[in-house]
Amino acid sequence: MKNIVILISGGGSNMAAIVKTAQQENWQQRYGARVAAVISNKADAKGLVFAKEHGIATEVLDHKQFDSREAFDAQLAEVIDRYEPALVVLAGFMRILTPGFVQHYAGRMVNIHPSLLPAFTGLHTHQRAIEAGCKFAGCTVHEVTAELDVGPILDQAVVPVLPDDTADTLAARVLTQEHIIYARAIAAWLEKH
Ligand code: GAR
Repeated sequence: MKNIVILISGGGSNMAAIVKTAQQENWQQRYGARVAAVISNKADAKGLVFAKEHGIATEVLDHKQFDSREAFDAQLAEVIDRYEPALVVLAGFMRILTPGFVQHYAGRMVNIHPSLLPAFTGLHTHQRAIEAGCKFAGCTVHEVTAELDVGPILDQAVVPVLPDDTADTLAARVLTQEHIIYARAIAAWLEKH
């Protein structure tokens, strides 16, 4: 069985979309894959409720309990590895990862970013796209490499930026596409590996 471990920090709507698609498309039979665990660095992440309701193991590891990024990432890797993951999926996991952690999951960790990479790495992507006068925005699924929000692009989707958009209305439009492309990119990854 190919175990998928999903890391979240908040709402977990991408995680929920992946779980639903995995059920609808029967990833268990098709790819021998399942979402084995959802791990959050925040105890109040709403996505944990959804995961529990769907019978998925959940774990919380509060980064504030650790003295350094290295110590947190080492413990996080230990928790993740209990599930022997084929693939680690970052889904709104709002932590900068240490090089050692990234190296440990090289070739088997993916991320979704709410911009058309390589444009707008980092935070506040929607506000920055509006301020730059972009006519289009979107989202990107990519493999995780040492540099933040860089790494081979696996899938992208484009949405228009409308004249009266705010960061929130644009984010909502992009998020609907995230839910489609993240599950699609993971299915394609499972097909290949
Ligand atoms: C998503 O828009 C995701 O692309 C973004 O956080 C949101 C999480 O939503 N990720 C990043 O900004 C990573 N730097 P969700 O918790 O509802 O999936």
